[in-house]
Amino acid sequence: MLNPQPVPSYLLQSDAVRARFDRLKARNVILDVRDLGKRFPTAHGEHVALDGVSFQTHRREFVCVIGPSGCGKSTLIRILAGLERQTSGDVLIDGKPVDGPGAERGMVFQGYTLFPWLTVKKNVMFGLKMNGLGRTQAEREALQWLDLVGLTKFADVYPHQLSGGMKQRVAIARALANRPRILLMDEPFGALDAQTRAKMQTHLLDIWRNIDVTVLFITHDLDEAIFLADRILVLKANPGEVQELIEVPVPRPRDYAQTTSAEFIATRARLEALIHPPAATGQTDDGDDGVKPHMVRMTDVSDNVE
Ligand SMILES: Nc1ncnc2c1ncn2[C@@H]1O[C@H](COP(=O)(O)OP(=O)(O)OP(=O)(O)O)[C@@H](O)[C@H]1O
Ligand SMILES: [Mg+2]
Repeated sequence: MLNPQPVPSYLLQSDAVRARFDRLKARNVILDVRDLGKRFPTAHGEHVALDGVSFQTHRREFVCVIGPSGCGKSTLIRILAGLERQTSGDVLIDGKPVDGPGAERGMVFQGYTLFPWLTVKKNVMFGLKMNGLGRTQAEREALQWLDLVGLTKFADVYPHQLSGGMKQRVAIARALANRPRILLMDEPFGALDAQTRAKMQTHLLDIWRNIDVTVLFITHDLDEAIFLADRILVLKANPGEVQELIEVPVPRPRDYAQTTSAEFIATRARLEALIHPPAATGQTDDGDDGVKPHMVRMTDVSDNVE
């Protein structure tokens, strides 16, 4: 029998990967999050959703954010988008403090957020026209973005005529059409089946490679985070704090054959250890968010299936 190969540390990087990170870190900082805090008033006093969160992302970097349910991922991205106000700390985009939503930040959520009464093309044109583009130019640019996401043929159909993956591609085209500096994505592929999700991941990397945009991508899926990210920001819950900012040692360009590579497995092992520490899983039946399901037996005890 073969001896199993020991998994190397996720901290080990090949020369090529290290050189790539050096180049990345030499780029301008696009997003600078400084000591960010968010408290929500609740019936039982204040809930600290985020506490002392600090990190930076560089131009054209792809950062994924993971953490247990309720650790403040969506709260963080809503603050970055300007949809929510922080209690303390600062968010700077290109050195300027965030004060409400802005065209330099594009958003893609999990739920399909297209306007159902507008065609695909008009959905993409909407933001362009809001930003002052004339009809003809907005249409021309919308068609370019639809081409980039492979939906030219569907320009004149309505969102309900599209599959889930296609709807998210329109949402990405719509968000990118305004040429944001940073694309903020909150579990954008969370509602898709596994196969469509895998295609969308590859497609998103293709798009990202070809345009000047920084991506902050929230996911629950550890493999998705490793496959997509340059670095992974791992948050912990109660209060939401940064545990670690991991440099993914898996080389680019990425493909699915790498998911069984030593670097990939080492990174997954590290994420598992951070997200599901043995002490926490051994001591409690709680879900990630501390909500304990109350199990009620609704069958006869003698009618056991196990
Ligand atoms: N408007 C609000 N008022 C009170 N508490 C809130 C509010 N919004 C979020 N919270 C609380 O803040 C915490 C973080 O919520 P958030 O939605 O950011 O978590 P999350 O990490 O995105 O979770 P999930 O992985 O389930 O999407 C949770 O405990 C949530 O109950
Ligand atoms: Mg969330």
